[in-house]
Amino acid sequence: MESIKLDITKAAQFLNPGTVEAYAPQVAAAQQALEKATCPGSDFLGWLHLPSGTTSEFLTEIQEVANTLREKCEVVVVAGIGGSYLGARAVIEALSNSFAWLVNDKKNPTILFAGNNIGEDYLSELTEYLADKKFGVINISKSGTTTETALAFRLLKKQCETQLGKEAAKDVIVAITDAEKGAARAAATKEGYRTFVIPDDVGGRFSVLTPVGLLPITVAGLDIVRLVEGARDMEKQTSQDVPFSNNIAARYAAVRQALYAQAGKRIEIVANFQPKLHFMAEWWKQLYGESEGKDLKGIFPAACDFTTDLHSMGQWIQEGERSIFETVISVEEPNRRLLFPHDDENLDGLNFLEGKRIDEVNKMAELGTRLAHVDGGVPNIRISVPALNEYYLGQLIYFFEKACGISGLIQEVNPFNQPGVEAYKKNMFALLNKPGYESESKAITERLNKEN
Ligand code: PA5
Repeated sequence: MESIKLDITKAAQFLNPGTVEAYAPQVAAAQQALEKATCPGSDFLGWLHLPSGTTSEFLTEIQEVANTLREKCEVVVVAGIGGSYLGARAVIEALSNSFAWLVNDKKNPTILFAGNNIGEDYLSELTEYLADKKFGVINISKSGTTTETALAFRLLKKQCETQLGKEAAKDVIVAITDAEKGAARAAATKEGYRTFVIPDDVGGRFSVLTPVGLLPITVAGLDIVRLVEGARDMEKQTSQDVPFSNNIAARYAAVRQALYAQAGKRIEIVANFQPKLHFMAEWWKQLYGESEGKDLKGIFPAACDFTTDLHSMGQWIQEGERSIFETVISVEEPNRRLLFPHDDENLDGLNFLEGKRIDEVNKMAELGTRLAHVDGGVPNIRISVPALNEYYLGQLIYFFEKACGISGLIQEVNPFNQPGVEAYKKNMFALLNKPGYESESKAITERLNKEN
């Protein structure tokens, strides 16, 4: 079986010779700290051997629950935010028809996402859309206390019960949450919903290969056995026994830290040339941003969809401040075939492309962009993915996770915590006078009065 590949030559040329290789000892130490659980955040290493530890019985259990939702629902709403939704959305959007929710797909339910914002219009329009649909809900929250998700779930639960009746609603509401704690667990226990547990030792952004990702992905009609197989193969390929020269996770971690620490590259843009990968980059942004952005350090993770964003961000990338590097996810072979059409009048002058595969044009756009950006001073890392399918996405997910753990440790931060995300919540609850936040509410009111 083929594998995803990494090419760092066009990034290493921006560094002194031997710089990437010089990171090998630090990478080895990071790998060992992960394996021996001696690193900061060692309580959250459950993701490390998750693929090899996932049994076929467990995947069958997920498939059974997914089948119930697939049989009973024309729409399934996945309620979750951050790590509790981005991984599922990344895989589903990469592997589903780009117009899945508009075409009349009789095979698969439409998957919608909620609980990831507090948009009144969004939620109102969602409830309106669902009013005449047979819908189910997957409520995903590790803490079970996340406001965005809890709000969406309140609305969806009520609507589902109103439309189906309380008893029938129980068959189409599934909770994925902590084994014991939190409101999502309490509601599931009270109502008797089907549940899956998010392991204690797997943080949200590393949880796509737990039921958090696997259940919605299966409901969308995708093959989680192949997804986990791909991740499992990548677990082997990036293990600490694989030498630095062949270990793509180790090399990716090393080159990005070298670009950051030694070449002043503060921003990494993950770019794709396939619109289906938009949410893969969103998932990657959270993984790297939340893992590395702390202690006043960290590469800022950004994302662009090419060629779309070459017409908006292309100028900045080509000639703006030289603080960026690019990581391109390149898909070698599309799943479909479409040729550049002939036009009798040739008003656009493009008949010279007639008969070529559209992907050939896309690949030349990719190569042309790479050359231009490298000439413009932007180091370029290339990850090539043989095709968009479950197996290679499983590889890609685990590759990014492993590299992220190594990279954070080289940067000397705890890659597995996220203390900073609490700050806005504390202010929001103080502003909303949440019980228990009385002193914070008083302090924030005084501060705002002073500032105004
Ligand atoms: O990575 C993380 O920990 C976060 O993105 C969480 O996944 C996100 O905040 C959602 O949290 P929860 O699953 O507790 O609702």
